[in-house]
Amino acid sequence: MKIAQITDLHIGLEGQETFNIDVRDNFLLILGEVVYSQPDLIVLTGDLCFDQGEVEIYHWIKEKLDNTDIPYLVLPGNHDNPQMMMEIFEIDYSHGDEEIYFAKKLAKTTALFLDNSKARHSDNQKKWLKRQLHQADKNILVFMHYPPAKCGVSFMDKNYALQDMKDLQKLFHKYEKNIYLFCGHYHTEKIIHLDNLHIAITPATYFQINPYQEEFEVDTYQIGFRLIELSKSRCMSKVRYIEGKKLNP
Ligand SMILES: [Fe+2]
Repeated sequence: MKIAQITDLHIGLEGQETFNIDVRDNFLLILGEVVYSQPDLIVLTGDLCFDQGEVEIYHWIKEKLDNTDIPYLVLPGNHDNPQMMMEIFEIDYSHGDEEIYFAKKLAKTTALFLDNSKARHSDNQKKWLKRQLHQADKNILVFMHYPPAKCGVSFMDKNYALQDMKDLQKLFHKYEKNIYLFCGHYHTEKIIHLDNLHIAITPATYFQINPYQEEFEVDTYQIGFRLIELSKSRCMSKVRYIEGKKLNP
């Protein structure tokens, strides 16, 4: 099974200033590459909106995704509004709290989709996660926005790290299972292995952040997505890049 992960679109409202980057075209260019790769599923791991959740932006993204005829799933990031997303993307919502989290079987493997758009997870979500991890087989896929660890990316680790990463790590390490976790948020490409937890950070379709600087600095305007190949016994992935687009070059 092939899964394409797209993250950190940061689409603005029509005409909104997005630092001279053509965020809508960037997303469409990546979506074109994704369609060409013929995945079985597309997963968007948050920051669909530039700054905050906007109905118009979600409708625009939904229309583009619907046009691909490829099944897709969406998760919120810290620049999204989960409630708005549930309504517009018609996400089945049954946990009784304002978070989007659910489990699915992908190629007979348990895949968990988490909501940390508030930079942390509710106690309810953590209880649910614990149950899911306990019940799942040996290999587990996880999709979420924030990486659940410090990643050696100075600016992001210092200012925008997940607040309850220790709780999450404790849960992921509790069971002797292989966890393949795919996230975004850091606007860079990175793989981190913490025992049984394998974290893959996927680059944004907006721009990438210099991972080596203490202060914010753009690393590159190349944009990317991750293609995940999942079989019964293994999970492999690679990132593909293309040139991003400026509004006024
Ligand atoms: Fe982002």
